Amino acid sequence: MKIIAGNWKMNGSRAELDDMIDAISRVATDDVQIMLFVPNTMLRAGNDTVMIGAQNVSKYTRGPHTGDVSAAMVRATGAVATLVGHSETRDELHDRNADVAERAARAIRNGLRPVICVGETETERKTGIGTDVVTWGVRESVPACATDGDFIIAYEPRWAIGRGMTPAMSDIENMHKIIRDTLIDMGFTNTPILYGASVNAQNVRKIINLENVDGVLVGGASLKKQDFIPIIENAK
Ligand code: PGA
Repeated sequence: MKIIAGNWKMNGSRAELDDMIDAISRVATDDVQIMLFVPNTMLRAGNDTVMIGAQNVSKYTRGPHTGDVSAAMVRATGAVATLVGHSETRDELHDRNADVAERAARAIRNGLRPVICVGETETERKTGIGTDVVTWGVRESVPACATDGDFIIAYEPRWAIGRGMTPAMSDIENMHKIIRDTLIDMGFTNTPILYGASVNAQNVRKIINLENVDGVLVGGASLKKQDFIPIIENAK
């Protein structure tokens, strides 16, 4: 089953979310799993077709962490998943792989499925260390408590996010193979790997059918029904 995930970042409203869930439920078939990662104020239970998740969770369980939200609090809304280690949170909260692993561990322990994001920056790519950064991103961001099927990896080339740029298809396939081999080496044979960065209705079919691509994580093009619904339809 392919996974199509939308990351709304700091956009949208509850009314737009209801409307999107409604529209998705009318077109999605059993062979796709849809996930929507929305701002904390919109978190709620999804339905059989659409899973709802947060965009991050705290490293801590509770206490004096103003502005932070725990995995247990997210789970209590009915949400079932969370992103961790997204490029923007790595940048803005200065998260390193070890921080991402702590967040992912809290998520798993509280019944949320983390989507652990990894990817190389433009500089890392240009200096030829992109594959190492991604390999270590996986090795260090997956927490020790994780078991197969508990989590999802999203490969998001950080230089391409939100810029309408995508790597060559062969580069995506190559990076996904490296991630797959790393996961197998770590003992995980059943972990979906999503591709994210500038996915749209035109390129989704090509991308989602690449080897070791189990789905896509869509940012900008997940915000509006007229963009996201064709992605779901074209992914088949
Ligand atoms: P984009 O964002 O699809 O707008 O490039 C992807 C993401 O940030 O998850």
